[in-house]
Amino acid sequence: MSNERTIIKTKVGIVGGGPAGLMLSHMLGQAGIENIVVEARDHQSISNTHRAGILEAQAVSMLVDSGVDGRVLSEGDVHSGIDLRFNGESHPLDFTDLVDATVTLYAQNEVFIDLAAARARDGGDVRYLCEVTELMDLETDTPKFRFTNAEDEAFEVHCDILIGADGSRSFCRRQIPDTNRQDFTVTYPFAWFGILTEAPKSAPELIYANSPHGFALISQRSETVQRMYFQCHPGENVHDWSEDRIWTELQARVDGPDNFTLKTGKIFDKTVLKFRSFVREPLSHGRLFLIGDAGHTVPPTGAKGLNLAFADVKVLFEALDSYYSTSNDALLHAYSDTALKRVWKAQNFSYWMTSMLHTPVDADPFMAKRALGELETVTSSRYGQQYLAESYTGWPHA
Ligand code: PHB
Repeated sequence: MSNERTIIKTKVGIVGGGPAGLMLSHMLGQAGIENIVVEARDHQSISNTHRAGILEAQAVSMLVDSGVDGRVLSEGDVHSGIDLRFNGESHPLDFTDLVDATVTLYAQNEVFIDLAAARARDGGDVRYLCEVTELMDLETDTPKFRFTNAEDEAFEVHCDILIGADGSRSFCRRQIPDTNRQDFTVTYPFAWFGILTEAPKSAPELIYANSPHGFALISQRSETVQRMYFQCHPGENVHDWSEDRIWTELQARVDGPDNFTLKTGKIFDKTVLKFRSFVREPLSHGRLFLIGDAGHTVPPTGAKGLNLAFADVKVLFEALDSYYSTSNDALLHAYSDTALKRVWKAQNFSYWMTSMLHTPVDADPFMAKRALGELETVTSSRYGQQYLAESYTGWPHA
């Protein structure tokens, strides 16, 4: 590395170019607020990272109304409900009827691809393969950070506001001093085994299944590619799982007197996804603000991860817009408290869905039966169904 360090001056410095960082960068760009995004990975590997796929209608509106692209409308699949399957029986929930809302199935890596394309189209400054090494002066009016690019050239960004959008293992979060902060964590004794398969759809909408063999989720990607998951041990090795073994396991979890049968095909991607519930409080320190997984993570059962990140972006964008147009930083000061209200609602919903649908190995038989009692309570009452439907489709943005 040469000794030269190029100084970059901008208004908002964003560490992390996943969907949260890029969405904020895009909205700031639309409002004429100069910003830079610095991302550790390359475009290709983020495009190929398979994550969840459900977008609340509000998240879809953020993409469409801000002029990202219409692909989410043309290629996303609008779902008006889900199926809760337990005791081998189907219990469809119709969100349109229950709460007059829908969700859209559109994979998170497609959201990333669209946002990255919009930033490139609009001349946004997004730098991939850049490693952030240091955050400085967070408690001053000019926070800074240092990064090196793939050519080993060194840069120092001077900005007004620094954003930590660098995911669940956030470097930014770890730079906040230990005083006056608290982390809240729950770990689960299970993980998800996720597959992508070349097969037709097994069902038109998502099936969340509780079974004596453990949880399974039957999701989709297109007419010819499907996404499915089954609860597994967090230490599970994908190489121990042949296609036959995976299909036997998945089928066992949806078996029932209705003879529901999964449509199988070649499996071309296998991953074990570990998860936890996590919240950092507060979500800001001086001029550093955490958004998305950098500040909080949820288990995937409630499909809230990306939606929650976008809700943070909305709150923070409005605070930044107000700050740059009126010099009033009241909304910036309120960001953490405002965002955390929704974060905790989503934490509750995700924890609830997870514990109701999964069966820990060695589960106390009482607890397993209790979860079935809960599923019965929710599905047999319109109020119960509405409670789930309202949370799943997303509470109104603040
Ligand atoms: C997915 O399609 O990948 C997906 C859908 C819903 C979830 C989690 C993952 O709750």
